[in-house]
Amino acid sequence: MASRSRALRAAPSVSHPAPSHGVVATPVVKWVGGKTRLLSELQARMPARFNRYYEAFAGGAALFFRLAPRRAVLADFNSDLIGLYTAIAHDVASVVRRLEHHRDVHSESHYYAMRAKWNESHASWPLADRAAAFIYLNKTCFNGLWRVNRSGDFNVPIGRYTDPPICVPETLHAAQSVLAAAELRCADYRTATRDAHKGDFLYFDPPYDPVTPTASFTSYTAGAFGPDNQRELAEHARALVAKGCQVMLSNSDTPFIRSLYRGFTIDRVKCARAINSNAAKRGDVDEVIVTGGY
Ligand SMILES: C[S@@+](CC[C@H](N)C(=O)[O-])C[C@H]1O[C@@H](n2cnc3c(N)ncnc32)[C@H](O)[C@@H]1O
Repeated sequence: MASRSRALRAAPSVSHPAPSHGVVATPVVKWVGGKTRLLSELQARMPARFNRYYEAFAGGAALFFRLAPRRAVLADFNSDLIGLYTAIAHDVASVVRRLEHHRDVHSESHYYAMRAKWNESHASWPLADRAAAFIYLNKTCFNGLWRVNRSGDFNVPIGRYTDPPICVPETLHAAQSVLAAAELRCADYRTATRDAHKGDFLYFDPPYDPVTPTASFTSYTAGAFGPDNQRELAEHARALVAKGCQVMLSNSDTPFIRSLYRGFTIDRVKCARAINSNAAKRGDVDEVIVTGGY
């Protein structure tokens, strides 16, 4: 691996099928740490060719939807998120129908009733019901900030929107055509990428290493992603490169992250983050895009 900086490429010429209806797919949920704003920087640093694409910290999966890869593994250990993507892939019409209902009856009392139902044991929820409830709560909650507490309960109050985009069938159909071509895995990133081979391309977007001790945001699911997890991920990335895989990773630009990826190519980029619930404290922060194996 070379640590020199490379001339940046234009987006690679790997051919991916355009969705049949010609609509470019975009994320279906707003996700903390979503990479929509960083897409051009990420695409400019991708390998020119690759076999299978892996995105193992999917979240809103902004890069996956942009690339619309022909062969892909999309994974996250958040079972509700993978359930949502599975429901869209297999039965988007049912998800749309249920969202139309949520849109028609949307009110403060409906929001809190759905939030309470969401937090009940959901063993008996049909997949499309739970998927639609997820999108509904995500689009109408305060700041679109999906956050769960230590026991895994979704606890965000309703947001103040005049016309939240609860049901956008075009977005869901475009997502369906991309998701249907992918293998969806609900798993830890190591298990999800175990079968990656030489020539495959893996993008990792883990929860950020906190820039300050209080800046940590690790509650997409109950559980944290601390320094030991960041270390293990770096070791995993090194092992993948050693077996001939091409790896790209984004994270905060901190001395700790830079020390973990010594020997990889590390580029600093600016990214507007929307983590802080206080709008005045959001703003541009430095991130790194780390690449290795190409
Ligand atoms: C920064 S977000 C990804 C954002 C995403 N790239 C986007 O565009 O929205 C990190 C994701 O990693 C998932 N995650 C955290 N720890 C994980 C682990 N050990 N294995 C797999 N996924 C994990 C979280 O559930 C969360 O969805």
